[in-house]
Amino acid sequence: MDIHHQPVVLITGCSQGGIGHSLARAFAAHHCTVVATSRSLSSMEDLDQDPRFFLQELDVQSDDSVHRTLNNVLHKYGRIDVLVNNAGVQCVGPLAEVPLSAIRQTFDTNVFGTLRLIQACVPHMAARKQGKIVNIGSVIAMAPGPWSGAYTSSKAALHAITDTLRLELSHFGIDVVAVVPGAINSNIGQSAAATYSCMPEWKLFKPFEAAIRQRAYFSQKSKSTPTDKFAKHTVAAIMRKKPPAWLSLGHYSFIMAIMYHLPLFVRDFILRKAMKC
Ligand SMILES: NC(=O)c1ccc[n+]([C@@H]2O[C@H](COP(=O)([O-])OP(=O)(O)OC[C@H]3O[C@@H](n4cnc5c(N)ncnc54)[C@H](OP(=O)(O)O)[C@@H]3O)[C@@H](O)[C@H]2O)c1
Repeated sequence: MDIHHQPVVLITGCSQGGIGHSLARAFAAHHCTVVATSRSLSSMEDLDQDPRFFLQELDVQSDDSVHRTLNNVLHKYGRIDVLVNNAGVQCVGPLAEVPLSAIRQTFDTNVFGTLRLIQACVPHMAARKQGKIVNIGSVIAMAPGPWSGAYTSSKAALHAITDTLRLELSHFGIDVVAVVPGAINSNIGQSAAATYSCMPEWKLFKPFEAAIRQRAYFSQKSKSTPTDKFAKHTVAAIMRKKPPAWLSLGHYSFIMAIMYHLPLFVRDFILRKAMKC
């Protein structure tokens, strides 16, 4: 396909080793021009010399950063066809004791960061009467368990935002897709552990310290789905003429869909056992 007619896809959080990076490669393999963004260009070094990628530094928490990137992309390509809100952070700790600043930081990235990109991109997509917005949620919001309440509630908010936008934006020819990963191998465990090391000592929850700490790596098991496999299937679905409203893939995605429908007392019993709560 002529490069000028290829769909232009902007993805947040494309650091090497994560889902965003694999999505960037999978979109490129699907003949898209990919604006791969992350907080630091050095985290996407391997994409640097490949003409299929336009690399940009973008922090979803910053208005300036978002507007600078958008201006650069519109100047270079004149449009954004697909926006993938992938950037996200985990936050581990008991909700009754996690500092509000850490919860705010989680929502600033996962919820307000996503909304910042959406509000910046929608006018351009609406003017062309076409576009796709993809929000990366999480299966954990379908059956919230202990020790990760800040993250889970941010993803639940994101699912609700996605449902609302799907209805509101359909008038402007914009499709809105919830991509809901199960457990996918990435850097999320390591970055969750790094954030966890800055948490204060728990008071009431000190006896649960070992179980809480382990929560950081819950999605990073040997059976977790490789990012490349997840990305390949996800991109194939997004690039359909009519993409699905909801797409849940990866290890645990089927189990979590069942958990969602279980009576609460059964779900609580399972989660108490699994999370040593
Ligand atoms: N892995 C899973 O099992 C799983 C399951 C369900 C949902 N998800 C979701 O999938 C998405 C990708 O996560 P991942 O698993 O690939 O984790 P990851 O490897 O830690 O990637 C997260 C990405 O988000 C970026 N990011 C964090 N804060 C940012 C900010 N303020 N501005 C811009 N980028 C920022 C990170 O950049 P830095 O490298 O600079 O930190 C990194 O590129 C997240 O939304 C996550 O919640 C993952």
